[in-house]
Amino acid sequence: MLPDVLSGLRLPVLCAPMFLVSGPELVIAATNAGVLGSFPAPNCRTSAELDEWLGTIRAGVGDAPWALNLVTHRTNTRLPDDLRLVAEHRPPIVITALGSPAPAVETVHAYGGLVIADVIDLRLARKAVAAGADGLGLVSAGSGGHTGSLSPLAFVPAVRSFFDGLLVVGGGVADGAGIAGGLATGADLVSVGTRFLATAESRAVPEYKQMVVDHGPDDLVISSAVTGTPASWLGPSLAAHGIDPAAAVARTYDGAAPASRWKDLWAAGQGLGLVRDAPAVAVVVDRLEKEFEGAVASFARRVNR
Ligand SMILES: Cc1cc2nc3c(=O)[nH]c(=O)nc-3n(C[C@H](O)[C@H](O)[C@H](O)COP(=O)(O)O)c2cc1C
Repeated sequence: MLPDVLSGLRLPVLCAPMFLVSGPELVIAATNAGVLGSFPAPNCRTSAELDEWLGTIRAGVGDAPWALNLVTHRTNTRLPDDLRLVAEHRPPIVITALGSPAPAVETVHAYGGLVIADVIDLRLARKAVAAGADGLGLVSAGSGGHTGSLSPLAFVPAVRSFFDGLLVVGGGVADGAGIAGGLATGADLVSVGTRFLATAESRAVPEYKQMVVDHGPDDLVISSAVTGTPASWLGPSLAAHGIDPAAAVARTYDGAAPASRWKDLWAAGQGLGLVRDAPAVAVVVDRLEKEFEGAVASFARRVNR
């Protein structure tokens, strides 16, 4: 079940945090369209900039819920400063990634916020629950950016068997049927990244949005050669910088970056085949809602036969 803070959402959707893509414009547009907007703190170069963004978002969304994504890995030296800003600006939801949620739990719970920990397997899910997370983000096969390898059809029920808190599932969802499918697995909220990457309010450069629009899931390669962690990359963006996508997969490419990761080498999830334009976020959310209602009605008709 959705916690009270999320019960007013128009659609059970998280507009997922994306490095170098999500800024205040995307968060405000998504939240005001009725889904849960979010952004990663590392998109701000300094804590001072983060302070500014958090103020802009609070002013832009009123009482509606939104989320801040924090990297809690011990190499993030800015975390103590960012947590001071979290205590001040009180984002209703904090999503932790690439580390234990533990460093964020006390600060966020002190003002009544919720912590969702992104995890890619059951071992990390159990550890995050033990560390006090209120919810888990199950990053499943098909996700853009750093990806998981578990099918959501197996991942969600496996976690449900030991955790009855908030579950978010994502990976390759780019239409309303996918949202309905995510809920059918037993998740409460569905994370959608790549669909929102190709929108007017996203900070991705136009060529990146166009590459998402022009390509499909066969054009993706999953490689840990670029960042050290498995991530789903647009093959043509690797090729454009002299990296043979096949070598990236096989790890015969040594990871030496001829271009800036994420800025020049572009990531996307398997839903990109459903993305054929880059309109305003409000248009995407309208479509997702219609498709979702259509998918639920069609499913009900099929199972009632
Ligand atoms: C370009 C890109 C950048 C991403 N950056 C982050 C990030 O900084 N932090 C994070 O927790 N997840 C990040 N993700 C993962 C998304 O939050 C989300 O889990 C994923 O996009 C869902 O899969 P989908 O793109 O197929 O919808 C990123 C995804 C993409 C496509």
